[in-house]
Amino acid sequence: MDETLHNLLAPYKDKSEALIPILQHVQGELGYLSDEAMLAIAGTTGIPESRVYAVASFYAQFYFTRRGKNQTKVCSGTACHVKGAARILDTFERELGIACGTTSEDYEHTLETVACVGSCALAPVVVVNDEVHGQMESGRVGKIVAGLNTNGG
Ligand code: FES
Repeated sequence: MDETLHNLLAPYKDKSEALIPILQHVQGELGYLSDEAMLAIAGTTGIPESRVYAVASFYAQFYFTRRGKNQTKVCSGTACHVKGAARILDTFERELGIACGTTSEDYEHTLETVACVGSCALAPVVVVNDEVHGQMESGRVGKIVAGLNTNGG
């Protein structure tokens, strides 16, 4: 086991009841749940690896591949769809240079769609790093992406 993982998991030895907090802690530190991390979690807690995967897979908050530092989520719920979410998504794909559902090679950006985020009155909605942008227009996408690139995240 790598040293970072070893240190992260040290407090959880045999703590099988703490699986969700462990998954959250490890993902919070590493950005995602690698195969190595999942194996280490199983080994540390004594929970079978298949069970660790089953639990983590159940929750949309857990990721098994490395994601970008900036995460852009275009709402694809009905209200946003009707108000032109597809066009907004196209523009993000072009500005970020990545397809929906992928992460850039430099791990700066991940672009994906999400189900309704509960702000339908603001449709179409895009969530960038947890910040909600309502009544989105294609013309605003370039500025948002430039801001992410300028801030270095
Ligand atoms: S459908 Fe997009 S916020 Fe509800």
